[in-house]
Amino acid sequence: MRILILGGYGVFGGRLAELLSDIAEIELIICGRDFSRAEAFCARYRGQARARPLALDRAEIVAGLRAQRPNLVVDASGPFQDYGTNRYRVISACIDAGIDYLDFADAADFVFGVPQFDAQAKDARIFILSGISSFPVLTAAVLREMAKTMDIVSVKGGIAPSPYAGIGLNVMRAVVGYAGAPVKLRRHGVQSHGIGLAESMRFTIAVPGRLPLRNIRFSLVDVPDLQVIPPEHPSMTDIWMGAGPVPEILHRTLNLLAKARARLRLSSLEPFSRLFYAVLNRMRFGEHRGGMFVSAYGTTDGQDAERSWHLLAEGDDGPYIPSMAIEAIIRKLLTGHSSGGRSTVRGPRP
Ligand SMILES: NC(=O)c1ccc[n+]([C@@H]2O[C@H](COP(=O)([O-])OP(=O)(O)OC[C@H]3O[C@@H](n4cnc5c(N)ncnc54)[C@H](OP(=O)(O)O)[C@@H]3O)[C@@H](O)[C@H]2O)c1
Repeated sequence: MRILILGGYGVFGGRLAELLSDIAEIELIICGRDFSRAEAFCARYRGQARARPLALDRAEIVAGLRAQRPNLVVDASGPFQDYGTNRYRVISACIDAGIDYLDFADAADFVFGVPQFDAQAKDARIFILSGISSFPVLTAAVLREMAKTMDIVSVKGGIAPSPYAGIGLNVMRAVVGYAGAPVKLRRHGVQSHGIGLAESMRFTIAVPGRLPLRNIRFSLVDVPDLQVIPPEHPSMTDIWMGAGPVPEILHRTLNLLAKARARLRLSSLEPFSRLFYAVLNRMRFGEHRGGMFVSAYGTTDGQDAERSWHLLAEGDDGPYIPSMAIEAIIRKLLTGHSSGGRSTVRGPRP
């Protein structure tokens, strides 16, 4: 299987390549706009899978697919919030070329718009799966499990990365880009909006029998979960998802800037994303641990019910989690779950 990874030497594209390194039957085409970075990544790459570098801009995807003829494209580049008017360029190119497609999209509007390609993907006998990462795959899986024993009314969740996880520039651009901007979500039973990074809460991730994470501040992020999960749960009236980047002083600075942008109707803070990226990746102190939680309120047999799911990721484990859903799909494809005739276009479902 030849897999073309757009953003293959980025933080999460690179981690995906590492997770697949024990599979001899695959060839990875590690792409990005900077050939020397792709080359350096491939030179460091160890394992049974083969990795080769390629300079390829997403804007040139049609020519890239024609020349490389991969069996699968993974878009790990982003930021998906900024894909502009022709935002489904990679998906359309894959449909035209008859190539399966997966992405890491964390932009709610992007993921929510993907089902429009359902019929075309079926005709081309391929699958197009969007948003295959922690947000919204893990949240959706946890809530489906909880929904077996309760009617879910309200959900809060969040991810707290380890300070040593290494945040990619494109993640930073996405987050800073919607700081202070309206974020669509479901609130009090109606479609509403919150303000990105301007609403916060605290939560302690605590797995029984394990040392809890410190109490963490989470702030509202614009992730697909907010739009793709409520339609799955008819009783759900509220959903809120947050991120808990540390150090908290930087997090609070972002909160203040987001509030100022919203109040003074300033333009996007995205030009500051390089600055935040540089500072956040230098200010690394505290425990090398991260986590995620999903907390739900609802009813079971007419009685109030509350459930929460906590995930602790020790040391370097955490940064691999966002890439594991795509890794699982690729492993499944290799064990004979062929894609042909299983055309699927869905937001949250791997
Ligand atoms: N849904 C989730 O839970 C979840 C979790 C993790 C990550 N993500 C998303 O995944 C994306 C990647 O995150 P990251 O932290 O890995 O970012 P990153 O470290 O900045 O990596 C981005 C990669 O994409 C490449 N790239 C950027 N623009 C490109 C273009 N036009 N054409 C081809 N390649 C391009 C970059 O290389 P060059 O700049 O040199 O081209 C780099 O290799 C982000 O959008 C992030 O939000 C989602």
